Amino acid sequence: MTDTTAFRIADLAARREDLRIAEKRAVDRQHAKGKLTARERVELLLDQDSFVELDQFARHRCTEFGMDANRPYGDGVVTGHGTVDGRQICVFSQDFTVFGGSMGEVFGEKVLKVMDLAMTLGCPVVGINDSGGARIQEGVVSLAYYAELGRRNALASGVIPQISLIMGPCAGGAVYSPAITDFTVMVDETAHMFVTGPDVVHAVSGERVSAQRLGGAAVNSEVSGNAHHRAADEHDAIDWVQTLLGYLPSNNLDAAPEYADETDPELTAADLELDRLVPDSLNQAYDMAEVVSRLVDDGEFTEIHSAFAPNMICAFGRVRGRTVGVVANQPRHQAGVIDIDASEKAARFVRFCDAFGIPILTLADVPGYLPGEAQERHGIIRRGAKLIYAYAEATVPKVTVVIRKAYGGGYAVMGSKHLGADVNLAWPTAEIAVMGAEGAVRVLHRHELAALPPEQRTAERRRLTEAYRERHSNPYLAAERGYVDQVIAPSHTRLQVARAMDALRTKRQTLPAKKHGNIPL
Ligand code: HXC
Repeated sequence: MTDTTAFRIADLAARREDLRIAEKRAVDRQHAKGKLTARERVELLLDQDSFVELDQFARHRCTEFGMDANRPYGDGVVTGHGTVDGRQICVFSQDFTVFGGSMGEVFGEKVLKVMDLAMTLGCPVVGINDSGGARIQEGVVSLAYYAELGRRNALASGVIPQISLIMGPCAGGAVYSPAITDFTVMVDETAHMFVTGPDVVHAVSGERVSAQRLGGAAVNSEVSGNAHHRAADEHDAIDWVQTLLGYLPSNNLDAAPEYADETDPELTAADLELDRLVPDSLNQAYDMAEVVSRLVDDGEFTEIHSAFAPNMICAFGRVRGRTVGVVANQPRHQAGVIDIDASEKAARFVRFCDAFGIPILTLADVPGYLPGEAQERHGIIRRGAKLIYAYAEATVPKVTVVIRKAYGGGYAVMGSKHLGADVNLAWPTAEIAVMGAEGAVRVLHRHELAALPPEQRTAERRRLTEAYRERHSNPYLAAERGYVDQVIAPSHTRLQVARAMDALRTKRQTLPAKKHGNIPL
């Protein structure tokens, strides 16, 4: 009897049993490679028992290459929704044990459906990648779905946060979806991202290169910048994403989660340490992370792209319980200079913060843009301009503190008043000038110094440098013009920044109406 309710319930149970057996097989295959299964990853990411799986019984319709004999449930991707720390997210997780996690028509339909759901709900979407790319048996249909996915990613950009976890191969055109998403996390050793793998590279150019060197987590997080975080293992990767989600709003219309303000309203010992942090010698570095940690709640912040362009820090933290994006030069690396990578890293971060209503706190100690042939040839003009564009376009609250050097283009771009910053503070150690004193004297007094007898030159250069430094290397010329609102003792920075952020809560700014701008790409 196949038309009884009891039969139908038993039939459902049997189908579920097929799923359970497939999952058991997946566990064995993935664990043998040191990887979790698609479903285990989802469960690790989401709050316990919160996962609602969609389209468990979806199956491909392909009949080519004997595919009709093998129609596993789920079609190689686990999709659904659930909560992280009680907040809704949507998720898809590619299952490498089914056709190598490759994208075919039904796989594609499932992914697009869950992305559309995320847009409808206004919640973040997390994509877990572990796939051989386009499903070869399904041909052009797979390609169509990659393009559809890219379109969804673009439409969702700036509306809901999109996060990609790379936990296995991610090759060919499949890399472009994660590249459009806001944040990409790669797992050490097991994850790879490249447009063409080592075999194709060898076939095309004769070059021999390992998968790790071509597209491992190290190269993508340190050199190319495709990955925003390099995780030690899958648990670490998921942990990082959970922390990241805690800083983000669910969508561009909602506010980020707000925590109770438990910060000290009085000066603390940690605040006072800031008065001793900047070394007396300009050429001596200090760790800007030490400043950041004293300005954000509980000293806690999460760096984005920490291994890429370390001369620029981009991080999420909280000020009085509310998320802020911190952009800061790091004098410990290349004296905090802005090179191409630093500009692009910070520009994308500023744009993310702006899209999602996250205020920006800028900490400047910057000798300027990096000079040199290599940078010019690689387009520091066009690519350095991105940061100016991003700051100028950002309408979220912008608070800037000049800590020490703010020279030349570095001054202008690092959240200056002229790019629309709302509150500009400076420490007494700030040097806001076109360039450092030595450089300025070299240009301004070149002829005069050359005319002197050599034995007098050094002393005169020193005198002129001192005179320039006294007159120009300070925050007061900028303060005279209102480019700096207040010069404050370093120890007062946390309280002043918090006040500024409080005052700016009601900020509303609109830009001229247009279809979209044309940021230099
Ligand atoms: C169908 C695939 C597949 C694919 C892997 N498999 N990739 N099936 N389409 N793209 C299947 C394998 O046949 C195998 O099936 C199983 O998945 C596991 O694969 P292995 O090769 O055994 O695994 P491994 O040795 O770990 O190698 C993983 C891999 C390799 C490096 C990803 O499978 C690979 O190179 N695959 C092809 C990658 C590729 O060229 N994809 C197209 C990219 S172009 P069995 O039955 O043996 O277990 C693209 C265009 C997108 O993606 C366009 C966007 C605009």
